[in-house]
Amino acid sequence: MKPDLETLSPETIVAFIGSIFDRRGEEEYLGEPVNMGQHMLQGATMAEQNGQPDEIIVGALLHDIGHFTSEFGTFSMDDTEDRHHEDAGAAVLERFFPSVITDCVRYHVAAKRYLCATHPAYFARLSEASLHSLKLQGGPMSEEEVDLFEQNPNLKEIIAVRYLDDAGKRPDMVTPDFWHFAPMVQRMVDQHLASQN
Ligand SMILES: [Fe+2]
Repeated sequence: MKPDLETLSPETIVAFIGSIFDRRGEEEYLGEPVNMGQHMLQGATMAEQNGQPDEIIVGALLHDIGHFTSEFGTFSMDDTEDRHHEDAGAAVLERFFPSVITDCVRYHVAAKRYLCATHPAYFARLSEASLHSLKLQGGPMSEEEVDLFEQNPNLKEIIAVRYLDDAGKRPDMVTPDFWHFAPMVQRMVDQHLASQN
């Protein structure tokens, strides 16, 4: 069941996210050979297999959660396909997660524009769908945008999640489901809460 966003709490946020994976994970990831759930789970699984820190695993796991915009109360008939899904996701998550996680969510599209501007070889690795959306997203960053972006204290994690985003498009990869990661996600929520008190 889908809870009211207003009533989400540190005790229910992980179940809410898990229910999105369970109910909607099989939805199409436009133009890619994996569905949305597989896409995010693949990034998180690769990060875990590579021994990357929890922040990067959870960042990859949640980076596209805002694609399910109707879950986040921002859907309108005027929405176009790329209606800032990254902002919708981050806005809900920032109540419960540290800034490193919400920045990975909020800036994963910007990170693509950043890498296209700073790493010419990165272009060559983008999928066709990703190249197409790059155009809608404003193309590679300008020099000023690059300078500004590099000031983000979570830059390293944002870039790491971006690479996982690009990698998580394998039609044949088997991953655990969301609930494998749920204890780690809850730990992050609990730590964040404790750090604020
Ligand atoms: Fe993605």
